[in-house]
Amino acid sequence: MGRRTANRLGFGIDIGGSGIKGAPVDLARGRLADDRLRIPTPRPATPEAVAGTVAEILRHFGWRADFGCTFPAVVQAGVVRSAANVDTAWVGVDAHALLRSATGQRAVVVNDADAAGLAEAHFGAARDHGGTVLVTTLGTGIGSALVHDGTLVPNTELGHLELDGCDAESRAAESARTREGLSWEDWAQRLTSYYRHVEDLLWPDLIVVGGGVSRKSAKWLPLVKARTPIVPAELANDAGIIGAARITGQRRRKP
Ligand code: BGC
Repeated sequence: MGRRTANRLGFGIDIGGSGIKGAPVDLARGRLADDRLRIPTPRPATPEAVAGTVAEILRHFGWRADFGCTFPAVVQAGVVRSAANVDTAWVGVDAHALLRSATGQRAVVVNDADAAGLAEAHFGAARDHGGTVLVTTLGTGIGSALVHDGTLVPNTELGHLELDGCDAESRAAESARTREGLSWEDWAQRLTSYYRHVEDLLWPDLIVVGGGVSRKSAKWLPLVKARTPIVPAELANDAGIIGAARITGQRRRKP
């Protein structure tokens, strides 16, 4: 694959509950360098089955070098530590070792929202924005990425703050809106309570909202009454792939 010889290319894979997506990434521009490939997440999504799909994506592109990969859970030095919306068989799995043996390449595995947040901070809605940027992804769960002057504080897990006596994501994620058939107004009210709680704790300078539903942000984001400027994400479905590719090579050191 000639394109890879330019050092500016990386490769990112985004593991989600319904699909696993990957593509080469132009690291200078923060954009996909080719059409991405999406393969439905295997069921059950055991570590071995998911690793097999990751290997298939790398094979499809002929990628034979380090790559970055997201996972929707706490990931410390490559080890998966939680399983809010994923198969519990993942807890304790050394994802670096698993993917190395499944693909033959070195992987850097990070939390999905952290990857998306880093991409938005460097190439998307918060590019050139200093200070504290909070990126949240609204999907099955709520993911969070806290970036200060371009540097990520990983695994913040702000989707699990308490909201109205419940786990916040069970009340305010996009999945709660569809599950409960909430109107945009009702959902926006829940998001207002959520973001007010978050901003009382962290006082961010900018909030970026990602996840698939951010594409329809005109319908609901103006109804969310936060004190902090709040804007939709710009990289949409590609943020995880781009952020994962960017992180490659930066995050293998143990704390
Ligand atoms: C998980 C996070 C993840 C978020 C979005 C939450 O349930 O705990 O680790 O980033 O969902 O996928």
